[in-house]
Amino acid sequence: MMEASPVITFTINDQKVTAKKGWTVLETAREYGIEIPTLCHHPAVKPSGACRLCMVELKEKNWSKLVASCIYPVAEGINVYTETPRVHNVRRWILEMLLASCPASPEISALAQAHGVVSTRFKIHDPSQTCMICGLCQRICEEVVGLSAIAVVDRGVHKKVGSPFMRPTDVCVACGCCLTVCPTGAMKDIFDTVRGEPKMPLTQLAM
Ligand code: SF4
Ligand code: SF4
Ligand code: FES
Repeated sequence: MMEASPVITFTINDQKVTAKKGWTVLETAREYGIEIPTLCHHPAVKPSGACRLCMVELKEKNWSKLVASCIYPVAEGINVYTETPRVHNVRRWILEMLLASCPASPEISALAQAHGVVSTRFKIHDPSQTCMICGLCQRICEEVVGLSAIAVVDRGVHKKVGSPFMRPTDVCVACGCCLTVCPTGAMKDIFDTVRGEPKMPLTQLAM
């Protein structure tokens, strides 16, 4: 007989919740319809914790800490809060950083605005940038499609996403998965540098 997965009990916003061992706080919150904003998370691939937008606060009597809910595993008796002043504050900072790192992304602007963030105090290095280098496109290509047509290359401020040597590659089968999951719309601009021949209009791909 198969052993039932152990059940973990804890609270989110003072509501008692149960989760299976190995779940993350985000997975549990979604199971209960509790909203936590995310960008680099997709249920089809392993979480990476790249964007930090999903931060929540863990509180005990004498301490509290912020954790990224998409990578934080559930544990018995923890108390998670998704809408505290600390959480709102860190979300605003992250959205300001995103407005500076991908200022040309309408998706990021809309998300920031929805959280009351309309400007950034951070330096904008490239006003035309839309990619937040979250790597989600690469993870989908690898883990779901089973290919490695794209990767995050270079370091620091030169980091970018693309095919090897930024040249079209036949490894890409033009399935459109990376386009579909990209949270900032950046893949639309990058895609023509990735696909090998024959070229296929974006409109014919899964969008
Ligand atoms: S293209 Fe999109 S999915 Fe890929 S790293 Fe940039 S923002 Fe993330
Ligand atoms: S379209 Fe190409 S790069 Fe994008 S997920 Fe599919 S194979 Fe990978
Ligand atoms: S959604 Fe959790 S770090 Fe991006």
